[in-house]
Amino acid sequence: MVLVVGGAGYIGSHMTQWLRNQDWPHLVFDNLEYGHEAAVAGSPFVKGDLRNEADLNAVFDAHPEIDVVMHFAAYTYVGESVTEPGKYWKNNTSAVLALLEIMREREIKKFIFSSTCATFGEPQRIPLTEDHPQNPISPYGQTKLAVEMILKDFDHAYGLRSVALRYFNAAGADPNGAIGEDHRPEAHLIPNAIFAATGNKPPLTIFGNDYDTPDGTCIRDYIHVVDLAQAHALAITHLRDGGDSRFYNLGNGNGYSVAEVIQTIEEVTGLPVPHTIGPRRPGDPARLIGSSAKVKADWNWNPQYPDLRSIIEHAWAWHSRHPNGYEDHA
Ligand SMILES: NC(=O)c1ccc[n+]([C@@H]2O[C@H](COP(=O)([O-])OP(=O)(O)OC[C@H]3O[C@@H](n4cnc5c(N)ncnc54)[C@H](O)[C@@H]3O)[C@@H](O)[C@H]2O)c1
Repeated sequence: MVLVVGGAGYIGSHMTQWLRNQDWPHLVFDNLEYGHEAAVAGSPFVKGDLRNEADLNAVFDAHPEIDVVMHFAAYTYVGESVTEPGKYWKNNTSAVLALLEIMREREIKKFIFSSTCATFGEPQRIPLTEDHPQNPISPYGQTKLAVEMILKDFDHAYGLRSVALRYFNAAGADPNGAIGEDHRPEAHLIPNAIFAATGNKPPLTIFGNDYDTPDGTCIRDYIHVVDLAQAHALAITHLRDGGDSRFYNLGNGNGYSVAEVIQTIEEVTGLPVPHTIGPRRPGDPARLIGSSAKVKADWNWNPQYPDLRSIIEHAWAWHSRHPNGYEDHA
């Protein structure tokens, strides 16, 4: 059985949907601070907090058949990680260490971790390959890199095998629009641009249009959340087949500028995206594009939806049907 920690969140719920569709035994564990129970309807769900060892032990006691732990649970706001680093180190690193210790005691030796391109910091070359130096510039990125380091030590000392997947910008939604992205507050470009188009939010602010890129706006690598789930499924199979510890970048290798994203949203929705130009944000590189050549070669990972248009069509399928998201927040 796969334990999906943080499975009621954006990426975790798409992973859970994949597990449910394939009839792979699984259990979702989430404190619902940012997640939504409706996002995992139809899957077994336990409400609990990763920082509470009693909650974790209760789950493992009740389900001795858990053999793989997937970990999506983290705080994810880069700016907040700068102003409240303790909160981030506790949830994103200490709590993961405690989980790994519990797994070690129980001899559960397969772990899949949501890492991030934020572990790289300022890119020295594009596209970013796995061997690019990791110099994170935010506490958020540092807390994630720390877990990657712990995983290496736990493999070496205890034989706990793991796959760390460094996502670039997760985007899109279930193609049928049944589940999708609902962060509160929402920090991501595509949902915020859609909200600006539908009038659910004020005009979008573009943070700088004087970068050294063809249209002056920042270029990012958007990877479809369903393709991320597919890569995680390959990771489960790899570990269950006795595979060794790995770390991979998950992006689609194509960069799209903020202006291109806005233009594609206008085409897909038929609505203008009202926007203004604001100052650059500190720490925003002009380009962030990942290479996923390694995971494609090793596991034959083949993203189904690498083009921006499909990503936005699926995001729109979700937002147009659920203009208020999961409607479970005040
Ligand atoms: N969204 C992206 O573009 C992106 C990019 C790179 C890495 N990541 C990483 O992927 C993971 C998932 O991201 P997401 O966008 O789905 O975030 P999310 O906030 O939607 O999901 C995280 C889930 O974890 C839960 N959670 C957080 N702390 C918890 C705790 N202490 N106990 C129990 N549950 C807890 C939240 O309630 C939420 O449901 C995170 O680890 C994030 O750092 C995301």
